[in-house]
Amino acid sequence: MNKVIFFSMGIAICLVTACGGNGAEKPVPATAKDAVSTTAAVLPDTAAFKDMVDGQPTALYILKNKNQVTAAITNYGARLVSLLVPDKNGVRTDVVLGYDSIGEYVHRPETYFGAIVGRYGNRIAKGKFKLEGKEYTLVKNNGPNSLHGGKKGFGAVVWTAQQLNDHTLQLSYLSKDGEEGYPGNLQVKVIYTLTDSNQLTISYQATTDKATVLNLTNHAYFNLNGQGSGTILNHVLELNADRYTPVDSTLIPTGEIAPVAGTPLDFRTPTAIGARIGADHIQLKYGKGYDHNFVINPFQGDMIKGGHTLMPTATVRGDLSGIVMKVYTEEPGVQFYSGNFMQGINPLKGGKKDDYRSAFCLETQHFPDSPNHPDFPSTELKPGQTYLTSTVYQFSAK
Ligand code: BGC
Repeated sequence: MNKVIFFSMGIAICLVTACGGNGAEKPVPATAKDAVSTTAAVLPDTAAFKDMVDGQPTALYILKNKNQVTAAITNYGARLVSLLVPDKNGVRTDVVLGYDSIGEYVHRPETYFGAIVGRYGNRIAKGKFKLEGKEYTLVKNNGPNSLHGGKKGFGAVVWTAQQLNDHTLQLSYLSKDGEEGYPGNLQVKVIYTLTDSNQLTISYQATTDKATVLNLTNHAYFNLNGQGSGTILNHVLELNADRYTPVDSTLIPTGEIAPVAGTPLDFRTPTAIGARIGADHIQLKYGKGYDHNFVINPFQGDMIKGGHTLMPTATVRGDLSGIVMKVYTEEPGVQFYSGNFMQGINPLKGGKKDDYRSAFCLETQHFPDSPNHPDFPSTELKPGQTYLTSTVYQFSAK
């Protein structure tokens, strides 16, 4: 008989161990490593982030709210280093993967832990696109394709930080014309805000002096049971997406926008991430698990901010910690990545390791390879226009 638990919305869901059919995997047993921590997580030492990188100073900036939620951000790659959130027992849990020192980030930027990704989040096919009749060639860093802005994207450069108060950090970066092959001098601003209602908002702004393409996102790797605490396959995920963009074997969208119905990509009701991850489906073979852009359903009335609509995108619950993360975004898509390329070779904060599928990402974005798909929502930014978008991550526990 299927075992059921009740999710925040009171909907019965199947646990990984129990759901039959549709290629369900073998149980993902909890191991000693998977136990929820009883010790409060702490922030990395801020002194370990004070350095000079590419001739510019780096540091760790701390945002706090009245509920013990704390975010630590470094200006190297504008990266979210730590995010401490109380679990169902009130124990502060660090829900994002990261390193203990700036040196480790500089040494291993390609993990993208917590990074702001740019100029273009996710892949551009063969590192080429045409804009206003001109072909541009980008730096390729992912087989035949360009991924996450190229070899030295926005996650591997030093931003100028300005801490406005305990709740707000502003980071700025000027990406020069031709950087990684992209046209236009692009002035980018990213603002992290932590509110007393346990929302971490990331707002993005940009202007350019030449037509360019742009797709900014944050690449936090989440484990709601605590970073380094084991598998995320028993986390329960709900995605507000009826459709997704299928990919080829190099993870470039085919151009089709397909229904999730009847596939293991259907997360419209809360489902354990691991329940169908091993199903015999070509898309899961190409992604080696989930590594897909989901098309967020049109607004259903939940949250409006500054005249822009923040759409309910995803809800995830850590099975052991009870921490619930809700994601809202103004972007049309979200890349759900189940940590399939993680190999346990990078040292995380506090001596932990980044084991296979011990984190997931929900990268809010325009669709991958949009510059080569005129039917996808446009990622062009022209002089005189302002790129403006936000994503909210809201935390609670039960
Ligand atoms: C991509 C994955 C990639 C990961 C880390 C995700 O956005 O879709 O394919 O392995 O980022 O770079």
